[in-house]
Amino acid sequence: MKTTIRWAMQHGVVRMAAARAAKQGDLQAQFMRDSRHRADPFPFYEQVRSRGRVVRGRLVCVTASYEVVSEVLRSDDWRAGPDEDVMPAPIRRLARWSRDPRALGPVDPPSMLVVEPPDHTRYRKLVSKVFTARAVEGLRPQIEAVANQLLDDLAGQDEVDLVASYAERLPVAVISQILGVPPQDHERVLRLGHLAAPSLDVGLSYREFRVVDAAVREFQDWLGTHIERLRHHPGDDLLSQLVQIEDGGERLDQVELKATAGLVLAAGFETTVNLLGSAVSLLLEHRDQLELVQKDATLWAGVVDETLRMEGPVQMTGRFALRDTTLEGQHFSPGTVMVTYLGGANRDPQVFENPEVFDVRRPNARDHLSFSGGRHFCLGAALARLEGEVGLRALFDRFPDLEAGPGAQRRNTRVLRGWQTLPVRLNARR
Ligand code: HEM
Repeated sequence: MKTTIRWAMQHGVVRMAAARAAKQGDLQAQFMRDSRHRADPFPFYEQVRSRGRVVRGRLVCVTASYEVVSEVLRSDDWRAGPDEDVMPAPIRRLARWSRDPRALGPVDPPSMLVVEPPDHTRYRKLVSKVFTARAVEGLRPQIEAVANQLLDDLAGQDEVDLVASYAERLPVAVISQILGVPPQDHERVLRLGHLAAPSLDVGLSYREFRVVDAAVREFQDWLGTHIERLRHHPGDDLLSQLVQIEDGGERLDQVELKATAGLVLAAGFETTVNLLGSAVSLLLEHRDQLELVQKDATLWAGVVDETLRMEGPVQMTGRFALRDTTLEGQHFSPGTVMVTYLGGANRDPQVFENPEVFDVRRPNARDHLSFSGGRHFCLGAALARLEGEVGLRALFDRFPDLEAGPGAQRRNTRVLRGWQTLPVRLNARR
């Protein structure tokens, strides 16, 4: 019963409203409902930009303008999750009643992604020291070792799926070391992460929601057991430290602890896998760019940022107006939903010259918004960049003649963008 109500509130109502709005020509509703946009959303972003810097739809407002996206993400007038206090009382009561602590996903409070200060500051402070640029640089030898081990395991093979054999294994191994997850659990964590990934999309069918919900529950159960294991046998990992914090002011309760650890773990591999897959695909498609970087290894950082710009693993995020506010001379009332297309902002010609061109030497590639901005700027950005740089370089050093094979398939999610499978030939010229 509670599951059905949660689906109805989070997805069912939106599905119905979107179906009606799409028929009336609403841009965002059509985007949501037409699966062709998942393969190539970029013409849609251009269409949005051609209609204005902020486009008001029947359901939500949307923007693909770099300047507006940056402003909304950094503004204190917009919050990352809906504010229950401004909901009509019966809806608020229903939302609270139907919430199930065993089925909390990445966009349910108290996930850091959707809460605001002071809780947001408290959660973020507890985990951020491990992810500073300096701390992350210290992980370089570990990441190189993981990448080389995975590549050793590929020895003797020729045709492989690069996602399953490398792109997803590297980030899951790295974030697992940080959170003390033992190697025998990696497979399970990956499986559940993939099944739960559509939880970021809005408007799921009841059937899709049930699959996601079951995966989130299994993940939460597994995480509870993992946390108990670390409570009794702590290691020198971040999660063991969080479990051991006894200080009353900083301490996280069990629900907060699971939400924070679960988000860091899932965000740690569900996104970076797409960065690695998309970078390999772009480089194989643009061999002139691959040759440049094979001659000059200092360009690997550029490959990573240009991939993030062209094919951001997180294509969009949303914000809710916290109070009456203006933007671009327009008024927005509390509760207004603004969908910010990060993938669209990254191709805004006002900021990026020839935005459709993949150019690993692009001077301002690093200005992309793929890691969002403001308070919720990606906690793992430095780690993702380093994994991208180390992982790609190690792969192409080992297999310089790598070639794309037939049958690549994209992931079927809207917010997350990447490859589900990426068949390659490792030693194409031998
Ligand atoms: C290429 C890889 C990655 C991309 C593209 C990415 C993207 C993002 C984006 C767009 C957000 C903010 C969403 C919003 O503003 O609504 C975010 C937040 C976050 N990311 Fe990442 N991420 C990546 C890798 C990672 C990694 C490796 C970690 C592991 C630590 C991580 C942990 C987080 C966390 C904990 C947040 C929530 C931060 C907050 O709300 O304050 N991410 N990420």
